[in-house]
Amino acid sequence: MKKILVTGGLGFIGSHTVVELQNTGFDVIIIDNLSNSKMEVLDNIEQITSKKAAFFNIDLRNKKEVKHFFNTNTIDGIIHFAASKAVGESVEKPLDYYENNIGTLVYILQEMRDHKIDHFIFSSSCTVYGQAAELPITEKSPVKPAISPYGNTKQIGEEIIRDTCKVHNMNAIALRYFNPIGAHDSIKIGELPLGVPQNLIPYITQTAAGIREQLSVFGNDYDTPDGTAIRDYIHVVDLAKAHTAALQRLLSNENKEKFEYFNVGTGKGSSVLEIINAFEHANNLKLNYKITTRREGDVTAAYADTNKVANELNWKTEKTLEEALKSAWEWQKSLI
Ligand code: UFG
Repeated sequence: MKKILVTGGLGFIGSHTVVELQNTGFDVIIIDNLSNSKMEVLDNIEQITSKKAAFFNIDLRNKKEVKHFFNTNTIDGIIHFAASKAVGESVEKPLDYYENNIGTLVYILQEMRDHKIDHFIFSSSCTVYGQAAELPITEKSPVKPAISPYGNTKQIGEEIIRDTCKVHNMNAIALRYFNPIGAHDSIKIGELPLGVPQNLIPYITQTAAGIREQLSVFGNDYDTPDGTAIRDYIHVVDLAKAHTAALQRLLSNENKEKFEYFNVGTGKGSSVLEIINAFEHANNLKLNYKITTRREGDVTAAYADTNKVANELNWKTEKTLEEALKSAWEWQKSLI
């Protein structure tokens, strides 16, 4: 059985990916420092899969501990989720973001080099495209100067991995996520935002639950059919499955280049107002919202061209937006 290290394995996308990996027959080891996750997620994963993942509470900035981990564990591949992800916070604390997202990436790649670990999957983001000139966004769309340090860590991260793969015996895939939402069908794992949610769906579910009074729709003067910004919302379980597909591609040497990158989205864009309507319809409730001004740094529209990921990874979404919005609400209710 192949042993896969999942860093950030108790986080939102990480935990769903651990479930898919275990269900596909991989032996999973999780590293997480619990900075944006909870220990109980480990038990909840076990309840879903009936398999226990090995767990290490390691802060990847601690080079000594990272070294010790790799000296004492044999690993066949790594899926690296562990990173800070709040765009606004990254503007306030750029050095924290570069240390946590870039420093730790370098440490892990150094260990991979030293221990001859070949396969690496990196959490990247559609943010690397900025406002793309053409929609849907293909992988040929140029990487634009990052607006936030967070976005920059994804761009720099990809470059570091590309440079590393060129000279070391390593193959890697970066998955450029669009907007992951929803929760596992079991409603045992989902998104656990710290404090006031910055992302649309957790803000919606917390408003519906009465935790937040009102959702602010950030701008209705965009150049879109209803004036609100458009994103590609992908069910987190579908996104998790893209990771197992990418890993299998590397493990079976099917990759065409040493460093590859894929968009992972549904291919369909939805506006903020469409999401609100779909959420209300899927869950048979009314949401309290108002239109406010634009949020700084937001692009008008982003949705994926999924041809490359479909053809190369043989992956496509299986779940609908309605399922995602229903599961997000069920998950929110389970937290109360
Ligand atoms: N939005 C609102 N009100 C809110 C929250 C969000 O109207 O309270 C709007 C945003 O303006 C945007 C859309 O809902 O138009 C989606 O916003 P999110 O914050 O959920 O997602 P983003 O597309 O802004 O950000 C996501 C990830 C980032 C990543 C970025 C790349 O959260 O990590 O995609 O584009 F960098």
